[in-house]
Amino acid sequence: MPPACARPAAPSGKSHIYSAPVARPGGSSTTVRVVVGAQFGDEAKGKITDELAAEARYVVRTGGGPNAGHTIHLPEGTVVLHQLSCGVLRHTTCGVSGPGMVVQPIALDEEIRELERRGLLRGEFVLSDRAHAVLPLHEVEDAWEDDLRARRDPASALGTTRRGIGPAYADRAGRWGIRVADLLRPSVLRERLELLYGTKTGIPDLPPIDAVAAQLAEAGGRLAPYVRSTEPMLWDALARGESVLLEGANSALLDVDFGTYPFVTSSHPTSAGALVGSGLPPAEVEEVIGVAKAYTTRVGAGPFPSEDTGEAGEFLRRVGGERGATTGRPRRCGWLDLVLLRYAARLNGFTSLAVTKVDILGGLDEIPVCTQYVMPDGTTVRDVLPTNADDLARATPVYEKLPGWPELHERAKERLRREGARALPSALRHYLDRIAVETGVSVGWVGYGPGRGETVRIPPGAPAPGRSTVAAWTG
Ligand code: IMP
Repeated sequence: MPPACARPAAPSGKSHIYSAPVARPGGSSTTVRVVVGAQFGDEAKGKITDELAAEARYVVRTGGGPNAGHTIHLPEGTVVLHQLSCGVLRHTTCGVSGPGMVVQPIALDEEIRELERRGLLRGEFVLSDRAHAVLPLHEVEDAWEDDLRARRDPASALGTTRRGIGPAYADRAGRWGIRVADLLRPSVLRERLELLYGTKTGIPDLPPIDAVAAQLAEAGGRLAPYVRSTEPMLWDALARGESVLLEGANSALLDVDFGTYPFVTSSHPTSAGALVGSGLPPAEVEEVIGVAKAYTTRVGAGPFPSEDTGEAGEFLRRVGGERGATTGRPRRCGWLDLVLLRYAARLNGFTSLAVTKVDILGGLDEIPVCTQYVMPDGTTVRDVLPTNADDLARATPVYEKLPGWPELHERAKERLRREGARALPSALRHYLDRIAVETGVSVGWVGYGPGRGETVRIPPGAPAPGRSTVAAWTG
């Protein structure tokens, strides 16, 4: 039996700032929030999404697959979710792995079992029958393709996560793909596998089809109780006035069309992509929350204008614990890039920002932020992304130094827990304020530590976009 996922909404601790449902023609009310990464990924989206999930009934992962790693620090221990939405971690929510995802069924089955074993699979779990499957052959193909690029020209290698994401999305677009629904019908699965294998000529060391078919059918059988058509489930939920949180994976600057192509992932990790990846219509969306780290990181290859390859970058990597949650690769680190953030804000239509990891910058005297680029021809760039990655690689970042704030020791964190935004050090407020003014988007959340609850909400009285927010916080 598929899980019902139709309990009445029981959101706890609804924010008085953001929760007011919007009346819709026809009498229904709705609350759809979208959370997406505003940089190159790893902005601590998992932490922010987990906290927002407390106010949602459904939390839907809308894209990507096992390339993502959402890390959540629970009192019981750390969880890294790869293919599950963080909705599965709360008793009050239904976590949906949505239609825009590419899921690796064998790894997904293991991820569920592992959470169950730890007693952390608390919410319901639903898997979209329309999601595509990442197969073992896609993983082989992904590695083979990136090695091929590297052999032809080392500078062209993408440094993918080698989880098969690109080839799986390519097969989806090419209509060769295998969907979750196919895993439940062994004869169809076999036919589609044979068709797909027929297209993979020239790729060495593909796993044998018989073994793969058996493994997939077995994983499909174990996943079957969770599989359903998720769009009608969400439409019905909205009609009942229940709230839905769309959880983007990867991040805006990795978008296949609007990121630093070709150094991107193969999906649309933007707010528009979250709608395509869930089947919800745009008019339902009330809020788009962009998650940005107080500095910038990137894993894999591609242009990164504010990267610091010296001591400062090393400091950010060490203090920020900047290693990939999925691949364990050290992340490239640099300062906050307001050009990229302004671009992401325009692209996604952020209604607010969540700025994370501000604790990592604590104790620095001054903090450089990149306010614009100067291009080789002398022109300046403030809020667009040069179309060609080569051009972005040649951009010279222009920095402004903002005053630093003291380290956030345990006592300072305790005050933040108790008093909220008013306990933010004034230089930190100033930093956040500059972000709001420069991007035209208010800061609604500030993450000051990895743990659940280590987030400050900016209280009501939020200023108009682009206006100073400091006055509103000192209240
Ligand atoms: P793919 O998504 O595995 O194809 O990798 C393409 C590029 O996106 C590589 O540079 C990856 O490191 C990067 N990437 C993919 N997913 C994430 C993510 O969740 N966080 C950070 N980088 C990612």
